[in-house]
Amino acid sequence: MTSDGGPGPSAPHTVNILVTAGPTREPLDPVRFISNRSSGKMGYELAAAFAHAGHMVLLLSGPTALDVPDGIDFLPVETAAEMHAAVSHHIGSMDIAIFAAAVADYTPAAIAPQKLKKSADTLTLELVKTSDILGSARTVFGFTGTLVGFAAETENLEANARGKLTRKGCDLVVANDVSKPGIGFDSNHNEVLLVYPNHNEALPLASKHDLAHQLVQAILELHLSQRL
Ligand code: CTP
Repeated sequence: MTSDGGPGPSAPHTVNILVTAGPTREPLDPVRFISNRSSGKMGYELAAAFAHAGHMVLLLSGPTALDVPDGIDFLPVETAAEMHAAVSHHIGSMDIAIFAAAVADYTPAAIAPQKLKKSADTLTLELVKTSDILGSARTVFGFTGTLVGFAAETENLEANARGKLTRKGCDLVVANDVSKPGIGFDSNHNEVLLVYPNHNEALPLASKHDLAHQLVQAILELHLSQRL
């Protein structure tokens, strides 16, 4: 890195990194969708920080209000199915894949072709499970690079994150407690627990910008240790 904070002439070893970010939108009819409170900030900060360190980044993102960071490849998607297809297409050429997106776990069983009209006092929606994109990385897409998942939890942070680490074949899960006020979803700040197969490391409260730079260090170290 140069003294003005700009990127150095070249990274010692340039790696290809895929980052998923933001929420997905699952349409109900032409004007309505099911989504969640993810802002995409953490994923976008990570993509920017990797690019700043001289690496090649492909950011696959659901809809957000954020500007696309400079110096990255960007592919916008809407639904969990579109994100799944995009990851399946691109993950084979990646060294590191980071799944920061808040992907909908369920999607409407059918999309009404016309706007749903108000009628009865109650309305029951039928939802079907989406495919687990991170959970498909090893088993379906055959990804052998460094795999990083995220876990947003409201209870049992470490145990839930460790379950995801094992279940989804990750090398690292970045866990955060979304029940704590002032961090996580809409916030510019976060506090995370890095859950590795054999140990944990807590990264204390910091801006998502600063945290992204710490995560880049941790993920690159992990990647290099796996290449030895
Ligand atoms: N994820 C994914 N595809 C999905 C659901 C989740 O790629 N359909 C990824 C997220 O990007 C995140 C990780 O899996 O990196 C954990 O997501 P989370 O929603 O916390 O996990 P789930 O497996 O959906 O478990 P639960 O909602 O029951 O906690």
